Formats: sequence, C-alpha cells, structure tokens
Amino acid sequence: MKHQETISNMTLEQKIALCSGQSFWETKEFTEFSIPSLFLSDGPHGLRKQEGEEDHLGLNASVATTCFPTASAVSATWDVELIAKMGEAIGKEAVKLGVNIVLGPGTNMKRNPLCGRNFEYFSEDPFLSGKLSAAWINGCQSTGTGVSLKHFALNNQELKRMTTDVIVDERAMREYYLPTFEIAVKEAKPTTLMCAYNKIEGTYCSDNRRLLHDILREEWGFDGVVMTDWGAMNDRVEAFKAGLDLEMPSSKGSFDEIVKEAVENGILDESDIDQCVDRLLTLIERTTSQKSEAVPENIFEDNHELARHIAQSSGVLLKNNDILPLKKGVNVAVIGKLAESPRYQGSGSSQVTPTKLVSLLDGVKSYTKDVSFAEGYTIEDNVEQDIHDKAVTVAKKADVVIFCLGLTDIFESEGFDRTHMRIPENQIQLLHAIAEVNPNIVIVVVGGSAIEMPWEKKGKAILHMQLSGQAGGQAAADLLFGAVNPSGKLTETYPMTYEDVVNSRYYQENPRQTPYLESMYCGYRYFTSANKKVRYPFGYGLSYTSFDYSEMKIQRSNKGEMTVTATIENTGQRAGHEVVQLYISPQTDGVYRPKRELKGFAKLYLEPGESKEIAIELDTRSFAIYDDKQSDWVVESGAYLLQLGANCEDIRLEENIKVDGVKPVRSDCSDWYYTLQGEPTKEDFLTIHEPYPEYVPKTKGSYDLSNSINEMKETSLVCKLIYKGIEKRIAMQTGGEVDYKNPEFKMLMDTSSNLPLKKMPLLAPDQMSFPVVHFILDTANGQLWQGLKRLLKKEV
Ligand code: BGC
Repeated sequence: MKHQETISNMTLEQKIALCSGQSFWETKEFTEFSIPSLFLSDGPHGLRKQEGEEDHLGLNASVATTCFPTASAVSATWDVELIAKMGEAIGKEAVKLGVNIVLGPGTNMKRNPLCGRNFEYFSEDPFLSGKLSAAWINGCQSTGTGVSLKHFALNNQELKRMTTDVIVDERAMREYYLPTFEIAVKEAKPTTLMCAYNKIEGTYCSDNRRLLHDILREEWGFDGVVMTDWGAMNDRVEAFKAGLDLEMPSSKGSFDEIVKEAVENGILDESDIDQCVDRLLTLIERTTSQKSEAVPENIFEDNHELARHIAQSSGVLLKNNDILPLKKGVNVAVIGKLAESPRYQGSGSSQVTPTKLVSLLDGVKSYTKDVSFAEGYTIEDNVEQDIHDKAVTVAKKADVVIFCLGLTDIFESEGFDRTHMRIPENQIQLLHAIAEVNPNIVIVVVGGSAIEMPWEKKGKAILHMQLSGQAGGQAAADLLFGAVNPSGKLTETYPMTYEDVVNSRYYQENPRQTPYLESMYCGYRYFTSANKKVRYPFGYGLSYTSFDYSEMKIQRSNKGEMTVTATIENTGQRAGHEVVQLYISPQTDGVYRPKRELKGFAKLYLEPGESKEIAIELDTRSFAIYDDKQSDWVVESGAYLLQLGANCEDIRLEENIKVDGVKPVRSDCSDWYYTLQGEPTKEDFLTIHEPYPEYVPKTKGSYDLSNSINEMKETSLVCKLIYKGIEKRIAMQTGGEVDYKNPEFKMLMDTSSNLPLKKMPLLAPDQMSFPVVHFILDTANGQLWQGLKRLLKKEV
C-alpha cells in the first residue's frame, strides 16, 4: 500500500468516515493527516458548480461556465482531437473555479431511443463511444483535473433507474455494453469511475464485486477510485467488499456504525477499508496539483469560440436538395419558438448556466439583415391559432423559410424516459401549413436523441444540430450560409418508426426487471443484420462537397495486427472533412453476431481536388468475440470482410481476408439470434441466458425498502398523503402549480416520487431519516403500531 504510514495512524472510525462525502459535493478533510477535501461538480458538457443550494438535478443556481454541445452532438464530430480539446477546456474551467473532479463523461450505450438521458451519452456504438470518452478524459486530466467516468454499468434507461434489475447475457455485456468503459479505462486511466444506480443480475452496482473488482480492477487494471452515483449506495458493507471506495453525497454517517460492527464481528476485513483509503489518498494527490498557470485570462471567451467550433463540427446535414448553402443577404423567414429561445442542453444534473447564449435567430441575422421572424408554435404543444397563422403569413412572403423544430424539455430529460419518438404535434402541424405556402423550407432540428421524421419530405434541406450548446445558434447559421462545410455524421440510427426498434415493445414492460432479450443487437447492429430499412443510418451525414474512396490495401503484421489504408479524394468544389468508417463483417459461420461492427474510423480534411491516404489500425481484439464458456476473448478462424464506408449502409470499398483462430462453431441457441426475424421472446433468451426468477411486483404486506411512494400510494393512505405533500412542495419550488406539463415539475416529481424508500434519507437527509422511512414502510404494509413503536425507539 502506498500510504501505509498515514493509514496506520488513522482510527477505524476515521477511515470509514473518509470513505463517505463531507457534503453534497465535497469529500472529507482531515487536517491532522494533511488530507484536504476535494470539490466535485457535474459535467459532462460544462461545469455545474453550485455555491449555494445544492441538488443533483440541475435545479438550483450554478456559477456561469461554458455550455458545450451535449455528448450526443459532440459525438457526431467523430473527432477525437476536438473532443480532447473540449475535455481540456472544461478541465481548465474546473481549475479556475476550484473544482477537483468533473463528473463525466457519461458513456452508457443507447439501447433504446426513448432513454431520457440519451442526450448525455455519445453513441449506440461501443467502440466509437469508448474512443471519444478516452479522448475527453485525456484532455480533461491533462489539466490536473480529475474525472468520473459514468454510469458503470448498464444504466440504459431512466425509468426506475434506481431499482431496475438488468438481466443480460454475458456476450451482450462483454461485446456491447462494457467495451466503451473498457476502452476509456485502458486508454485514459480515469481518476474515478461512478457506479450506476441499477442492479445487474440481482446485485446493485454499488455492491457488485464481479463488476467493480473482478472485471474493472483485475481484468482492466483500473487503479482509480470508484464512487457511487448520488445516493446509489445500497449496502455499505458489501460495497466495501466489492471495492467501492467513496460514497457520495454524504449520508451524514448513516452507515458508519454498521460498517464498524461488521469489522468488529469479522464480517468485513479492515484491509478492504484500508485499500479504499489508500486509493482515495492517491486520488487526492492526483487531483490537487492542478495547473492554474495553464488557465488563460480570457478562458470564457476562448471556450465560447471552441464551443462554436465544436457545434459547427457536430451539425449533421441530413438532406440538401440544392438549397444550401444559403446566399449571404438572402431574404429569409425564421420560424419557430426554438429559433428564438434555443434548447441547447438537456435537463437534469448536467444542466449548466452558460456564459453567453446565441440563438439561431441571432446567428441568421449575422449573415443577412433581410430577416423576418415568427414564433409559430408554443413550447407547451398546444396549437395557438393566431401564432400559427401569423407564421404562415410571414413564411409566405419569404424567399427561404428556416424552420426550427425539435424536442422540447418536457419530452427529454434526466429522470424519466420518453413515451414516444415524435416531436410535438403543434410543430408538425405548422410545418405542414407552411409547406402549403412556401416550398423552400430548410429545417433545423434540435433535440438530443433520435426522433421519427415522417415529415421529412416537407424540407428541401434538413440540418440536425442536436443540443448544440451556448454557441449552437451561431454554428447552425455558419453551416446554413456555408461559412463552414457540414461534416457531422450520426452516431445513432434514425429508424422509420419507433416500432422498428428491436426492443420497442418490451423496453418498458416491467421497469423493475429488464431482460435484454435482444442481446447485443441494438442500433445499427440490429437494423443492418435484420435488413430493416431506416430513415437515416448510423454514420450518415452529407457535405457541400463529395468524396471518392479508392485503393484499399491491407498490411498485416505477424502478431495479428493490421493496417487498412485507402485514398480519399475530395471530388467537389469546396474544402471539407470526411469521416471514413471501417466495419468488420464476419463470414465465419460460427457464433451468432452482428452483420457489421465499427472497428475504426478516421476524419480528414481535404481541399477541392485533393487526395490523402488514411490508415486505420486493427488488432486481434477487433475480430474477437467473448467466449463465455472459457471466459475469454477468442477469434474465430475464417473469412472476414473489411469494409470502408461513408456510413454503415454505404460501403464504398471492401476486402476479404482470412484470419486464424479457433474453429468456428455455430451457437446452440434459438434461431432468432441468427435470423432476427420478428421479436425475440423470453424463450429465445433462455437459450442464451440461465433461467432467472421473475420479478413479482410487491403488494401491501410485502413492500420493502426498494418500493417508492409512487408504488405504494394506491394501497396506503400515508403514502398517498406523502405523495400529495411532495406534489405541493415541488409545485412551490417550480412556480406554484401542480403542473405535469411543466418539465421541471415533471422531472422532480418523477424522480422524487419514484425514489426507493431506502434512498430518501441519502438524497434528502433534511426531510427524511431512516427511522421515518421504516415507519412509512410499516404503515404501508398495514403495521401502524409496529411502525410507531420502531419510530419511538428510532430503530433502523
Ligand atoms: C446523476 C449523475 C450526477 C449526479 C450528481 C445523479 O442523479 O445520475 O450523473 O453526476 O446526480 O449530480
């Protein structure tokens, strides 16, 4: 142990105390051992440093910092260097504001488009997501600031995120859900990692030794600190055994006595706690020597420009029928409330207070003075006829209509999932009405996750900006008017309809237990393998120029590594960037696996007529599958197609190669995993996963601490009253009314009323204590007297 001496001078109580936070954002300080406190703040697309009232949902004020585009937008740049710069910029702002650790990046897989937090995650592809996370982390940590890679692992939905139990087969976990974390851990050595709220195969992530010790530390060599997500601690004794170092936020010593007794009774080894303390002391060393001299005087000005540059690079041109780029000075009508009041980030813990804010309308005005504007629709999604009509009149007179539409806050947030993939109906109605009077419509889309776009034909061009940060409005205008050539490419599939998504029917069927019946077939892995038509495929994006791919070559080394090269030529009239994607398509006839998987990519800049060679490296892992019988990665012998594409459906060049490895053997499982016909069933799943006990919803008499007020309110008067109390309190915080159409109210209500009883004292210690929580549980189970007795005795 590195800090043996300090640790041997600390009492057991002091060591236990160090492993839990001091406050909402700080770790504990021990002056007698020269142990300073660390300050933690949310990321990941900017800093949310709170100096006043604290919360984990982005409600109370935070200091103004640069709001960069959110991860779903940033990923569309496919630019590791740029993302490293963003990480570095956030790291420098952290140094300036005295923040030691930024809580990001978020790298969970997008299993289903409805996950409310998809805007905070990079991609549906683990390789891309892992590479981008690693770049972000390396950039941020280069400033001496720490990070927290989150949420480990399988936190792929917001609905009941604190209690859901993910049932997943080993290959899906190893080949699809974990590699993004694995790449980031191995390539960037994050200082900390945040465990997720949910359970995996019956065990909460905080207590999950297999996940936190066997896989993370033993297999991947992670040597940093594991902390909980805010309030994710389940059982502190088990968590120590699993190697979970730091509980956040402070639970005000709630578990200290239990841990101490466990050590005294021989249930927990003191050396497990010592290991955690040792790692925490190393973390403190690593994150308290930040480089303040590296922070420029005008950092916020610089970072605003960087945010603009990143937003320019992340805008995805989905369609262009010879209308873009627009000419400077053209007469335009800008339509849409979102063009004036931009939605540029998502709600929840990642929400930052921007230093500046440029709307699309402002951006357009910087290129042409001949602009009229009409808001056209309300954010609240009700058709207001006069606003609607006025917009149609304004649009009719313009040469070009720039129509800004997309998801509003009520549709997309941390804390709850979406219920469909549509944009608000009032926006669609207006788009149809405007298309009747003006055919020259350029649609600018905002929103952090995939949407259905049946109205696509109404636009001559479509530019997707996602949630593009504080400079996004300017960046969109830069792209529309051609000051910058679009180069972003989608990092998630846009299906024709939600029903086409493999797990659409059962995604929210039983939120407390989520079997991943589809295994690793998510996103394009499903659509390409099932030959299902999509609206826009993974990797798709247009440019104002065109690129030609030629001369694909493969050089192989003895150790199974290889380099794929090709020449890319800009065949159009404008300079631009191209993102070249390398997919592997196995032809081995062995285990079931996706038809095509991304294993490399390159982004390059070319002047008109210029050609350059790209080189992408592969290693044996690029071809490997996880053999769950041997618990190891293996490569199947046989043929593989290496495919270079402009997106996953547009393969421009391919080469067939032979690779040596183990003999391919067909998996002994349901045909579904080979044919992908129809929807997978539980019976199919049980051919790739052990039988598991079905979760039966609890009823009065059997409720436990994992139940929430929401779940018990129908059978318990006390819970109903508490529910009403929560509604009232939240209404007071959010404008006075009980209003489920107010996004802030809805987010808070969903989160608070669905909080498992056990988490209430951890996240709201001023309003709830463990004895009170037990009292509520007893009464909900119909045992009022027992509850009262326990309350009086302060039993926990
Ligand atoms: C979120 C984390 C966040 C934490 C602190 C939690 O609700 O899941 O991503 O870092 O709060 O705000």
